[in-house]
Amino acid sequence: MIEQKAEIIFNRKVASDTFLMGLRASDIVAEAAPGQFVMIRVSPELDPILRRPFSICGTQEGDMLLVLYRVIGKGTRILAGVGQGETLSVLGPLGTGFKFPEKGQKAILVSGGIGIAPLIFLAQKMKDREMKFLSGYRSVKEMVPIEWAGLSGINDSISTDDGTMGHKGPVTDLFEAAIDEFRGGAFVFSCGPLPMLKKVAEITLERGISCQVSVETHMACGLGACQGCAVKSSFHEDRTYFHVCQDGPVFDARSLDW
Ligand code: FES
Repeated sequence: MIEQKAEIIFNRKVASDTFLMGLRASDIVAEAAPGQFVMIRVSPELDPILRRPFSICGTQEGDMLLVLYRVIGKGTRILAGVGQGETLSVLGPLGTGFKFPEKGQKAILVSGGIGIAPLIFLAQKMKDREMKFLSGYRSVKEMVPIEWAGLSGINDSISTDDGTMGHKGPVTDLFEAAIDEFRGGAFVFSCGPLPMLKKVAEITLERGISCQVSVETHMACGLGACQGCAVKSSFHEDRTYFHVCQDGPVFDARSLDW
């Protein structure tokens, strides 16, 4: 884990209330893996004092860390106002990321909303495999383009709740169709709101398909010290709780009590 003063290279709006930030952070980039996260101090002022957690969305040019975030509260509102050339304190990479399937194995990536962030990084690292990338949004206004990440050629499908783009309905409809097409022979990776993750877990557990989920929770410290990110484990485990910040945020879907 590294603490670094990172210079902002860009901080641009890519969808409604959604920003992509590039930060110069070579030491963190050198160790970053898909599924891990960073804690960012959004302001040098004392308020807000706590760092905010952000999934690592990718890396570029060997030293640029990419963070995709949605403005949902005070911290992210401050972050959206940070400009090129300013510096922020970044701590990371933190947590346990995705485990890669064997070479040649097919993969299905399922995201909901801003949960696409860690899956973009994962897709970049798995471009040599047969893969489907399914992303769901409430509306087309929230849709995050992925071409900038070099993912324009991948097999992707979109769903929106209001039908303004792609399939009208939950992304799990697309997911069930994709599983049938791959005849169950795929590794599944998912990140998004809890009800969506729960449905993805249910579908994969019923069919005995390997599934890793990245769980989003509130994190105050990101370091295993505050106990604020505990989630209940399933009966398969010999512990009652996991800390999302250290044991996760990526878990095998069988490990959690849904
Ligand atoms: Fe503090 Fe996980 S965020 S223990």
